[in-house]
Amino acid sequence: MSEPARGPVVIVGAGQAGMQLATGLRQLGSTASITLVGDERCPPYERPPLSKAYLTGELERERLWFRHEQAYARQDVELRLATRAVAIDRAARTVTTAAGEVLPYEYCVLATGARARRLEVPGAELAGIHLLRGLDDADRLRAAIRPGVEVAVVGGGYIGMEIAASLTKLGARVAVIEAAPQVMSRGVAPVVADHVARRHRAEGVRLETGVGVAGFVGDEAVRAVRLADGREVAAELVVVGIGAAVNDELAAAAGLATDGGVPTDACARTADPAIFAIGDVAVQDHAFLGRHVRLESVQNAVDQAKAVARTLATGTPTPMREVPWFWTQQFDMMIQMVGWADAGLEWVLRGETATGAFAAYALADGAIQAVHAVNRGADYALGRRLVRERIRAEPGQLADPAFDPKTLLPARRGR
Ligand code: FAD
Ligand code: APR
Repeated sequence: MSEPARGPVVIVGAGQAGMQLATGLRQLGSTASITLVGDERCPPYERPPLSKAYLTGELERERLWFRHEQAYARQDVELRLATRAVAIDRAARTVTTAAGEVLPYEYCVLATGARARRLEVPGAELAGIHLLRGLDDADRLRAAIRPGVEVAVVGGGYIGMEIAASLTKLGARVAVIEAAPQVMSRGVAPVVADHVARRHRAEGVRLETGVGVAGFVGDEAVRAVRLADGREVAAELVVVGIGAAVNDELAAAAGLATDGGVPTDACARTADPAIFAIGDVAVQDHAFLGRHVRLESVQNAVDQAKAVARTLATGTPTPMREVPWFWTQQFDMMIQMVGWADAGLEWVLRGETATGAFAAYALADGAIQAVHAVNRGADYALGRRLVRERIRAEPGQLADPAFDPKTLLPARRGR
């Protein structure tokens, strides 16, 4: 494209990415008609608090909305809630909703996100087994929690560990069952993962690692989780947090190739020039990382949406070039991560884990590729620059407490 979008823009999925695109287009002065179609009932909302402050009751429901429903109308964005898109006709350039309405588009943007993966084992249909992706899930889970209740969390990734911390705070007795040898092992510095495990144990969370789940035991309601080694973990309530399944069925049904998500170029364009894909659903050719990835983060959803807003508002294809970053909050730990952490990186520790505030720097071919900070916001903030600028460092320098990694940055002109 070389012209700004003039005809209708239909955004499918009113989550983090869809909301950001709709508002971003208007902020950039786009006059195209914009329809934001979402199958949930409430206005677009933030998901991160669902496993954190919202689950513990520290954050009110209305604080989850990005903006009030009327704000969309004020920006002339047509927000269609409780509306599911069921088909895309690429030849006719239309999106059809479950109610049979046909929405014509010049550009269609897929922002359908992902859903929580189910654990298909015997007993999966028993009452008391929860997933957590949306607000309704969080409300159901919260309503089931009372002090002393025995909870088993299956999956010790981000969601599982956040839920374990939040439910422990609410007085539940929590066991986490994680198939891998360590919790939080996907893309997290080992020293950080070990610290998180210790912190949870200190708060009374039982961690069962290196063991899968064979099934759920109970009559109508779940009573226990049966582990692959035959042991049982008693639980009146189970939360499954074993990763996300991508919502790419709509794209596949429209004849777009899918490969664990919807493939796009660096500007979020799919194989069809009239269709873009952003956020959790997209497998992008990542401009900064130089590889194809599907990222599940607020940062990615927001920055991809901003780039597509610019592309559509100006007519100039705009790649998303941001360095990936992510955070998680568990108990008193604020963990902030920047960069892409492959397995097998060389990690250098700064600070002492015993103090509860430290950072791990990852080096690849002599350059800083990732920084993971626990209660050390300054390292994280600096890490964003170090990683973005692919700054080189020696492991010995980074490990030296007297060394200030800020000095690695080139002096700014004019200083
Ligand atoms: P979503 O926000 O999932 O939005 C997609 C929307 O599209 C949904 O409302 C879905 O119902 C709708 N939809 C799907 N199909 C259709 C259809 N056919 N028709 C209409 N609507 C449709 N990220 C972080 O960076 N930090 C965190 O701490 C963090 N914590 C998280 C905690 C939880 C509990 C969860 C669930 C996620 C968390 N994430 C976190 C991830 C982050 O929320 C996601 O990466 C982000 O929401 C992705 O945005 P998205 O717009 O791509 O997808
Ligand atoms: N039994 C036990 N553990 C399992 C099983 C199983 N059958 N299957 C998978 N796991 C473990 C994995 O080893 C992994 O540690 O579940 C964990 C899932 O972790 P993630 O892949 O990080 O997924 P999850 O925590 O569910 O997060 C999904 O939430 O915060 C967001 O960005 C995150 O969007 C992502 C989503």
